[in-house]
Amino acid sequence: MVARKPPSRKGSFADVPKDLMDQINRLEELFSVPTQKLKEITTHFQSELTRGLSVEGGTIPMNPTWCMAFPDGYETGTFLALDMGGTNLRVCEITLPEAKGEFEIIQSKYRMPEELKTGTAEELWDYVADCLQQFIEYHHEEEKLDQLPLGFTFSYPATQDYIDHGVLQRWTKGFDIEGVEGKDVVPPFQAALVERGLPIKLTALVNDTTGTLIASAYTDTEMRIGCIFGTGCNAAYMENVGSIPKLSHMNLDPDMPMAINCEWGAFDNEHKVLPRTPYDIIIDKESPRPGQQSFEKMIAGLYLGEIFRLVLVDLHENPDCKIFEGQDISKLKKPYSLDAGFLAQIEEDPFENLSETLDLFQNKLSIAATKPELELIRRLAELIGTRAARLSSCGVAAICKKKGWKTCHVGADGSVFHQYPHFKARGAEALREILDWTEKKDPIEILPSEDGSGVGAALIAALTLKRVQQGNYAGIRDPQAMLQGTKAAKTGQM
Ligand code: BGC
Repeated sequence: MVARKPPSRKGSFADVPKDLMDQINRLEELFSVPTQKLKEITTHFQSELTRGLSVEGGTIPMNPTWCMAFPDGYETGTFLALDMGGTNLRVCEITLPEAKGEFEIIQSKYRMPEELKTGTAEELWDYVADCLQQFIEYHHEEEKLDQLPLGFTFSYPATQDYIDHGVLQRWTKGFDIEGVEGKDVVPPFQAALVERGLPIKLTALVNDTTGTLIASAYTDTEMRIGCIFGTGCNAAYMENVGSIPKLSHMNLDPDMPMAINCEWGAFDNEHKVLPRTPYDIIIDKESPRPGQQSFEKMIAGLYLGEIFRLVLVDLHENPDCKIFEGQDISKLKKPYSLDAGFLAQIEEDPFENLSETLDLFQNKLSIAATKPELELIRRLAELIGTRAARLSSCGVAAICKKKGWKTCHVGADGSVFHQYPHFKARGAEALREILDWTEKKDPIEILPSEDGSGVGAALIAALTLKRVQQGNYAGIRDPQAMLQGTKAAKTGQM
């Protein structure tokens, strides 16, 4: 069992002078989210999930993904998966053998150059296609290949009329490439593949959360939700078509399942319920897309270090307290110079005198912090990390409440979930508070997921080909073209 109360150094403020203590108390006030507030957020979240599925739509996009089944563990075939994440680009070849729930994977990682994120659309698609070409040349030198079906994990909000289609609603996570928003990303991507004569056929455009849901469900039949807590944050779950009024004009079987990519990062863009601090407001204002991704900007890895940095700069400039007095804070003044890993290191400092934090500040920021300043720094990191974990649980609780799930597993991936200290324990504690659990074993557990953007994307491609072969053409633009030339189609391996 996880510790019920995540560790805090609350008792270590004996030598902190009054001006700093006042600031610590102010920060506690600003960043703490009490149980009652968590419940209020969850209730609003639940109604926003429903609104997003309605004909009128809402703030949370709730995008139908045309991934319409869970795997049964017996999917087979060979698939490519491409993951265009924020930091790396990963290409995988995944073989699903006969054995239940098994897979084999070969993969290559390519660094996403920072300038690409604000470059042109042409540069982006050329780079992505070049990586795929390198992968094919390296792993299949001189082989004559069938068309390999590809699951493309594109982890940004996209509306899909078909599974191999995706109109980018807006860039998130600091991307700002002109000429892509509002357009289908598939044609320019596919054109770059054709230009290089690559034997690849895009079968499914996939969100990382849907990939996580499906990959986790491949080995765990209790999986109901896939979450990402990484550079960005989001979740997907399986809805039934009858509960998606915005699809009712299509006259689909109401009992059919449909994975919904919630895009919950957009929750509360109208600022009705989230307890935003002045620092959250600055983050938003200075981001490439102000007014968007309000929830994400309080939770996701991209922003945690920046919130922390903004607080410290503010305190340095505050005449009532003045931390780092007389020091050159020019390094600290650089936007986005601290990442979530920096906060994680502070929280992981095992020493009572916070000597590792002292070194971090010295080495990274050329700041010599005093002991009371170190205490404030540590508490601030705890507060920001704890708030992120607690708010995340509101989204999970809202989906479970909407669906009436009393027990289930939630698969989670992303750097914050895996690497940020105590994130899991703090999130679990918040779920207990929101859902008033008293049981010893938590009925809903958030567990580390399988590789969603690799295996998950491959499985979604496999499930898509399988249902086309079975004659379920919902969200399929051209069934014949989809099967043509793919190995899965030729050998009838599905
Ligand atoms: C994107 C989502 C994605 C999430 C996690 C968000 O910024 O909008 O599509 O699932 O990040 O990667």
